[in-house]
Amino acid sequence: MKAAAANLLAGNLVAFPTETVYGLGADATNSAAVARIYEVKGRPEDHPLIVHISSMQRLGDWADNIPEYAIKLARDFWPGPMTLVLKRSELAQDFITGGQNTVGVRVPNHVVARALLEAFENIGGKGVAAPSANRFGQVSPTTAAAVVDEIGEYLGSTDQIIDGGACAVGVESTIIDCTGDAPRILRPGAIATSMIEASTGHDCLDAHIKSIRVSGSLDNHYAPAAKVFLCEIPTVGQGFIALASIETPPGVIRLASPRDDNEFAQILYSALRQADIQGLAEVVVTQPIGIGIAVAIRDRLSRAANGR
Ligand code: TXA
Ligand code: MG
Repeated sequence: MKAAAANLLAGNLVAFPTETVYGLGADATNSAAVARIYEVKGRPEDHPLIVHISSMQRLGDWADNIPEYAIKLARDFWPGPMTLVLKRSELAQDFITGGQNTVGVRVPNHVVARALLEAFENIGGKGVAAPSANRFGQVSPTTAAAVVDEIGEYLGSTDQIIDGGACAVGVESTIIDCTGDAPRILRPGAIATSMIEASTGHDCLDAHIKSIRVSGSLDNHYAPAAKVFLCEIPTVGQGFIALASIETPPGVIRLASPRDDNEFAQILYSALRQADIQGLAEVVVTQPIGIGIAVAIRDRLSRAANGR
């Protein structure tokens, strides 16, 4: 961890596990290092990045005018799968925020991520910018092997990938805009609406405002090469992902059978990758119904399916 932290501070990239998905990390105060993230991901440069810190004590470095309800959320759900969008401090420059006056900050809950962030801060680092470690528009990696498949060929000899096993949550953090009078969910995740409302005592504001650039809110995102179809019965030769209680029709290639919604989130991205590894042209997914993390699963699937 000390070596990886020093490598970050030297301006190199370090991909690392978090509880949600693997991130592609760079020193969030180093514009040249951050520029390499965009290069490796092939991502448009006006899309903002999340800054990862080791604890909420550091939040004041990156954000100003933090509302009371955001502090409540941080106390209740950090470290954890939640990103808060706040008014930025001077430290959060345009190359992090995409030129917006807000910054996204997260304290991840993964033993490797926390050790790396602590080691980085111990040598003077302020925070680690880390988008999901995939090429732009592709499926986020939830294992180190998936990171290698996604971006291995674009990394340099001094960049690193830390293997911390499979991610426990499996879908990206809940992003909450905390710049208004009440929280607004920009991207659903494991921290669900009901949890946010119970924590803050506020009703969440309506979700979608197009003026904020959230690349994960584009249609046709999180997409494998295979065409994803929802709300269909799979036919011979198609891949199939559904809860274990749903049977596989004859001739259909079952890719995953999660037992509940949490497991569904955890295995979703690796199951979609599996469709590509097996060279399948089409994959049918029966979406989980209900609230909680099922909302995040349906959100990602609707983008992966892009209307199909
Ligand atoms: O779980 C996660 O959040 C993972 C792990 C690695 O922490 N990270 C992640 O980063 O999903 P990324 O860059 O793939 O997605 C972050 C999303 C992007 O869609 C970005 O536009 C949005 O967060 N975002 C970042 N800062 C923002 C801001 N200031 N205002 C609005 N959206 C922001
Ligand atoms: Mg992403």
